[in-house]
Amino acid sequence: MALFTWKDEYSTGVVQFDNEHKRLIALINELHTAMMESRSQDVVQDVLKKLVQYTQIHFKHEEDVFARTGYPDAAQHKIQHKKLVEQVMAFNTGREKNACLSIDVLKFLKQWLLEHIEKNDKAYGGFLNSKGIV
Ligand SMILES: [Fe+2]
Ligand SMILES: [Fe+2]
Repeated sequence: MALFTWKDEYSTGVVQFDNEHKRLIALINELHTAMMESRSQDVVQDVLKKLVQYTQIHFKHEEDVFARTGYPDAAQHKIQHKKLVEQVMAFNTGREKNACLSIDVLKFLKQWLLEHIEKNDKAYGGFLNSKGIV
């Protein structure tokens, strides 16, 4: 799997959230590198934990702004966030059972983030911009 690089076309139009997405991409790459270098499971697990924690912080930031601005698609968007967290938790449980975090989890996270930015996050840009959030 190639490293994940930021592209301008991923921009939501909100600088804070673009920066947070860049940080998520960096963490996915860090996880990829740790796995490719066959680092110990502890190291891989630490990076995964950081990624999950930062994902939750990022989701909360988006959801707080939705609440503050009355974003009309907030409910549907929050369901997407919740589903991802549940899926990652399920992977985590599975990983403990299998003692190995699979590359499939990494591919899933990358794919999920890309699709979510493209389909859900980019959709809030115009609305938030109209509320003065740029
Ligand atoms: Fe989102
Ligand atoms: Fe996002």
